[in-house]
Amino acid sequence: ALVSMRQLLDHAAEHGYGIPAFNVNNLEQVQAIMEAAAQTDSPVIMQASAGARKYAGEGFLKYLIQAAVESYPHIPVVMHQDHGQSPKICQGAIDLGFSSVMMDGSLKEDGKSIADYDYNVAVTKQVVDMAHKLGVTVEGELGCLGSLETMQGDKEDGHGADGKLTMDQLLTDPEQAADFVRKTQLDALAIAIGTSHGAYKFTRKPTGDILSISRIKEINKRLPNTHLVMHGSSSVPQELLAEIRQFGGDMKETYGVPVEEIQEAIKFGVRKINIDTDIRLAMTGAIRRFFAENPGKFDPREYLKPAREAAKGICVQRYQQFGTAGQA
Ligand code: G3H
Ligand code: 13P
Ligand code: NA
Ligand code: ZN
Repeated sequence: ALVSMRQLLDHAAEHGYGIPAFNVNNLEQVQAIMEAAAQTDSPVIMQASAGARKYAGEGFLKYLIQAAVESYPHIPVVMHQDHGQSPKICQGAIDLGFSSVMMDGSLKEDGKSIADYDYNVAVTKQVVDMAHKLGVTVEGELGCLGSLETMQGDKEDGHGADGKLTMDQLLTDPEQAADFVRKTQLDALAIAIGTSHGAYKFTRKPTGDILSISRIKEINKRLPNTHLVMHGSSSVPQELLAEIRQFGGDMKETYGVPVEEIQEAIKFGVRKINIDTDIRLAMTGAIRRFFAENPGKFDPREYLKPAREAAKGICVQRYQQFGTAGQA
């Protein structure tokens, strides 16, 4: 059944686990997530970015997720709008039937200029007011995703802030977070701790100076009852990079967020963990391998099937690693 995200996050907090939120853009990704959830008995958060809605079309996305809900009636499913850039976009998602929306007011509507704090409070509160009337969950974001190695905003997928950022912008301030939650009354808070979207997060396996799990602990101390969200949480498995390279792809050296760091974060209030890139890498590796090994094949079902299997494999792993398995 379609459920609100608040319901799932409250349960996760009560039982001390985390829930991966997987981005979806097409049929095979939706199927992969649902097959993994059914196999591991996990609740599901599927999220669609503005880019996903543009790629698939709103109606297709809506009914793909609706099909998932109908095909797996025993699995709770959240349909979440990822990175809504304005109250208007969030309103549109709610009208379309999303059970949860993210108002990302850390950036202005252009998605690249850093918004001031009062703007973020105002737009987030506006979305909370309209969403809560309808039982829809709201995620907000405080702080800017970006690299503590380069002090650059997150540019890889075109979401992030322009130019050089300061430490204060790249790490969410616990005191300000407490004020933000009090003023907006949101349900879940995305925080900045040194992660960024995409495959190129870290130039080395991250240590505490560039991935600040200690900042999560400080925020959690100040806000023990707030559900925290980690964006940019793909682990970028080295074996997937190797597979892509082996079959002709060009991936530079890069590192993601280690699963054991996410497991630590879950102990300190992180309940929603956003993952898109790992599924992209898994599907690309599988398709590259298939084409390399089967140069004569041209039926999309034949190469999308291993891609779907590979995506499912990532989802099964994360459900097990985050403690989501068995909680549906
Ligand atoms: O927010 C980032 C997600 O990975 C979605 O990316 O905007 O390319 O769909 P996208
Ligand atoms: P990744 O690019 O690390 O998968 O992050 C996805 C995300 O945060 C979507 O909002
Ligand atoms: Na989101
Ligand atoms: Zn994100």
